[in-house]
Amino acid sequence: MDIKKEVFGKYREKQVDAYTLKNDHGMEVTFITYGGAVTKILVPDRNGRLENVVLGFGTLDAYIEHTHYFGAIVGRVAGRIGQSRYDHQGETVELTPNEGENHLHGGRSGFNSGVWEEEEVAIEFDRVSVKISYLSRDGEEGYPGNLKVFVTYTLTNEGCFHIKYQAEADRDTPLNLTNHSYFNLSGDAKEDVLGHVLQMDADSFLPLSEENLPTGEIRPVEGTAFDFRQKRTIREDMGKSEETKNGYDHPFVLNKSGNITLSHEGSGRVMTVGTDQESFVLYTGNFLTGDILSEGVPAGKHAGLCLETQGYPDAVNHPHFPSVMVKAGEEYRASTSYTFTVKK
Ligand code: GLA
Repeated sequence: MDIKKEVFGKYREKQVDAYTLKNDHGMEVTFITYGGAVTKILVPDRNGRLENVVLGFGTLDAYIEHTHYFGAIVGRVAGRIGQSRYDHQGETVELTPNEGENHLHGGRSGFNSGVWEEEEVAIEFDRVSVKISYLSRDGEEGYPGNLKVFVTYTLTNEGCFHIKYQAEADRDTPLNLTNHSYFNLSGDAKEDVLGHVLQMDADSFLPLSEENLPTGEIRPVEGTAFDFRQKRTIREDMGKSEETKNGYDHPFVLNKSGNITLSHEGSGRVMTVGTDQESFVLYTGNFLTGDILSEGVPAGKHAGLCLETQGYPDAVNHPHFPSVMVKAGEEYRASTSYTFTVKK
C-alpha cells in the first residue's frame, strides 16, 4: 500500500497536487486537489491488465476549461435548484443561477472548481487514505453560513474505493454532496458505455420537467425504460420513451440497503456501488462533446456514465422529499463505496 504526491499545476496562485493511492494488487486511484477531482482509477481486467475506468484529463487547464465536472466533488448542492431559490423559516434564499434561471451543481463556482487542502495522509497495512478539506464561505454562490467540508478518499487492498464526506456549518444550509466520476469499465474509454450491463436496486425514479427539474412525482419504474432491477444493457430500453431517447439523466430512489452494479462483459470488470444516500442520478454522458482524455482519445457522447449518489435533487423546493438541510453546528456525514471485481 502506498501514496504518491506530485505537483499537478497552479490555479490562482495556489498549488494543485495530485495524489495516487495504490494497493498491493496494482489498483490505483489518482485525484487532484482542484475540485478534489478523481482523474484516474486503474483496475485489472480478467487477464490482469490494468486500465483506467474513469474519464480524466491530463492537464489542469483541461479541468479548468471544460465544464463536465469530470471526477469532481459537487456541492454545496448537487443537481438543480429550481429558480435558484428556496424558502427557509419564512425567508427566501437566492442562489446564483448558472443554467438559465436555475442553479446547477453548486453554482458558477462550486466545490468542483475550488482548490482543496490536504488534512491527513494515512498508510495502513490494508488501506491508504487522504483527507482533504474545503471552506465554503458565508454567501458563496448565495448559500448561508460558513461551511467546512472534509472528504476522505480511501483505497483498500480488497479493491474498494471509498469516499467519506463530513461537513459542519455555522448556519442552517442545504447540503447535498456527490462525486461526479464518469465510469467506463471497458478501460481507457475504448468504447461507449451503452453496452455496459447495469443492475440497480431502485423501485422508483423521479420524472423530470423540460428543464430537468424533478416534477415532484415519485414514480415506480415498473414497465418503464427506468427499470434496471434485473440486469440489462443501458442501450436496451433507451429508445423506448421520449425521456430516455437521448440517454439517462435521472434521479432514482435507492431501495433500503440497495446497491448498483455496473459490469462490462468484454473486460470482465464489475463495479458495485453502495451508499448511505437515499438516491442517485444516473447520467449517461449525454452532453459530452469529444474533449480529449488523458489517453488521447475523445470523450464523445456516452463515453462515460455517472452514478451520482446523493439526496433528492431540488429537495429544498419539495417538502415531501427527504430534507437536505443541515442545521447549524450539526455534523453532516455521507459515504459511498465503489468496489471493483472481475468476472472470469
Ligand atoms: C448532471 C446533470 C446533467 C449535467 C451533468 C454535467 O448529471 O444532471 O444534466 O449537468 O451533470 O454536465
